[in-house]
Amino acid sequence: MSDGIERATEGFVSAFGSAPEGVWSAPGRVNLIGEHTDYNEGFVLPFAIDRRTVAALAQRDDSLLRVASSFTDEVAEIDLRSLTADAVSGWSAYPLGVAWALSAYGADLASAPGADIYIDSDVPVGAGLSSSAAIESSVALALDEVWELGLSRETLAKVGQKAENEAVGAPTGIMDQSASLLGREDAAVFLDCRSLDAEVVPLGFREAGLELVIIDTNVKHEHSTGGYASRRASCERGAAAFEVPSLRYLSVDDLDRAQQILDDETFRRVRHVVTENQRVLDTVRTLREQGPRAIGALLDASHVSMRDDFEISVPELDLAVETAQANGAIGARMTGGGFGGAAIALTPAELVADLTTAVVDAFAAKEYAVPAIFVVNAAEGARRDR
Ligand code: GLA
Repeated sequence: MSDGIERATEGFVSAFGSAPEGVWSAPGRVNLIGEHTDYNEGFVLPFAIDRRTVAALAQRDDSLLRVASSFTDEVAEIDLRSLTADAVSGWSAYPLGVAWALSAYGADLASAPGADIYIDSDVPVGAGLSSSAAIESSVALALDEVWELGLSRETLAKVGQKAENEAVGAPTGIMDQSASLLGREDAAVFLDCRSLDAEVVPLGFREAGLELVIIDTNVKHEHSTGGYASRRASCERGAAAFEVPSLRYLSVDDLDRAQQILDDETFRRVRHVVTENQRVLDTVRTLREQGPRAIGALLDASHVSMRDDFEISVPELDLAVETAQANGAIGARMTGGGFGGAAIALTPAELVADLTTAVVDAFAAKEYAVPAIFVVNAAEGARRDR
């Protein structure tokens, strides 16, 4: 982690020619369970991971906002006085979009001082680990502090979501930013996306001799296009047919009726969300009463539901999950928005090496791209590092 702080500080100096006044960081996240439930006002159970995005920042005397980063040579620049959601594009829409979104929560862009920001990240991009939320959350925390806005972490999560929805144009929910801002070491964030109440749920993987293995298929996805938005639209159709504000208002007892009044595709989308909400509640209860070794079947069932009902898996994710299950994982599922990205496999520590080899071999046999396989730990959320 201190490497990231050093890299961001050095990157800042070489991009802008002086030292930053502070360094903030925010983690990526992995979702243990509760997929495509957040924008349906349902339940999610993600945790912040030990991969972070670091933002080094110094305020300026004028109104310019400049962002540079380790992943591109481009330095994006905009005058705060003319910053709108439409004025930003490309990767810089994430950090600049956050500055814009803060104006809905008290920042006065007509008088706020400008800033130089340098971003360094070791959260893999496009892997379903929320590299975007990590950028948003680190920048939101930094600007909140230097602009003296005093916003809560729950509000900063909304700021990140607003940036992503309106500046980037991806119709995503509140899960990723909440996990990045509210995460705790060795614990998951159990979030009710209707009330936005969050509870910390200890995971106890280490004590149980378990590791959470990420299998990044290297199949890239983007949520500003296509499938994600169409799934969201199906959910809204389902809720409208029941005349309720969101699918959160339905339970498994409503599924018979859903099957009668909805077309088959919409019904299966609804069934995924409704049963997934129940699986999140069951996972939280199981973790508390029996510990992590007992949650495997819930993870497996979540994958089947996403594969068959929500139809957001891809062959690479299915192969990762099946191979992990056949090689010692207690439970496995694709994680994140789908259409690529990563799977997770909850695995006894002593079996991680064999599982890794098995997945690499299975991918090679199908001539799929080489997957990136690594272990993550539940880590602390966004913070000021220096
Ligand atoms: C993406 C979005 C989240 C959530 C997940 C699916 O990660 O950013 O808001 O909807 O997909 O659970």
